Amino acid sequence: MTGTVPNATTPAGLIRLCNAFCDAKALITAVELDLFTVLHDDPATEDQIRDRLRLHGRGLRDYLHLLVALGLLEKDGDRYRNAAGADQYLVSHQPTFIGGFVRRAGTNLYPAWGRLTEALRTGAPQTGSDYEQVIRDPGVLGQFVRMMDGLTQVLGPQLIEAFDGWPAGGSVLDVGGCRGNIAGQIVKAHPGLTGHVFDLPQMGPFFTEHMAALGLTGQVHFHGGNFFHDPLPEADVVILGHVLHDFDPGRRKFLLGKAGAAVKPGGSLLVYDRMLEGEPPQVENLVISLDMLLVSDGGSEYPAGEVHENATAGGLTVVEDRKLGDFDTLVVLRKD
Ligand SMILES: C[S@@+](CC[C@H](N)C(=O)[O-])C[C@H]1O[C@@H](n2cnc3c(N)ncnc32)[C@H](O)[C@@H]1O
Repeated sequence: MTGTVPNATTPAGLIRLCNAFCDAKALITAVELDLFTVLHDDPATEDQIRDRLRLHGRGLRDYLHLLVALGLLEKDGDRYRNAAGADQYLVSHQPTFIGGFVRRAGTNLYPAWGRLTEALRTGAPQTGSDYEQVIRDPGVLGQFVRMMDGLTQVLGPQLIEAFDGWPAGGSVLDVGGCRGNIAGQIVKAHPGLTGHVFDLPQMGPFFTEHMAALGLTGQVHFHGGNFFHDPLPEADVVILGHVLHDFDPGRRKFLLGKAGAAVKPGGSLLVYDRMLEGEPPQVENLVISLDMLLVSDGGSEYPAGEVHENATAGGLTVVEDRKLGDFDTLVVLRKD
């Protein structure tokens, strides 16, 4: 998949580009209403959808037609049903559900992007709440956790496939591993491995609940702490994924050095993020980098070269850079 943008050389193309936020909001609203779950087993007419979702009815036909035009619904006679992608990824009780990302985008990123001008003028984050506030409120943290699950659900199998050095009977540590969704997938794919997750202590209850749901209690261990202040456990493979971009270059260097130091001799450090490669970099990755402008204090995406420089200074060797899924870059580093 490549980022596609409307033709910006014509007035019509510019207006389409200007209205692209409407497409995003149409998707976010459908997930907020849980429309795709409602239609999963039971395609419905406009009136049935109005009743099931308790909507007013005004605008509904246009809205449903917009979702058809966006490829999210299909219309069969007078009934609407989920298109294949929506049915696979946006039905809330499915294990492949990525709607946690969409919901959190609706509550956090969507309003923050409304303040992009302000962010560019001041350099200041625009969400009005920092991550410490997110972590303090279990309801908001739950939303964040589901957003991360939405991404790692897709990324996990790609990471497992991309790296061929999972050590039989060894250990893997996911630093900033959230509630263990990636670590859990790795241990399921390589049952001899012991999994470890290091994250803020407030993530502990979410981790315990998730491991029980995955049937992995006792096979993946949680280490609560602050990775800027507390020691990391050692492991054969250490992962740092979608973590460095939350921080400024100085803190990225510190954290990479600390993760490298936690790798056992002969082991590997895996770093992945929406790294900025090419001139100009991919649209999708620039968008995520600007997300970081809007939601973090100093964070941004960065080129793989920055990881190389900091890691080699810490005594690691670069093995390779490779694509991970559509947008991420994985840097594989080795410690001799
Ligand atoms: C953007 S998420 C990345 C989740 C996952 N690794 C992924 O690939 O998507 C960043 C994670 O780092 C954790 N985190 C942020 N600051 C932290 C800190 N100071 N110490 C430990 N964990 C932290 C967050 O709680 C969150 O789970």
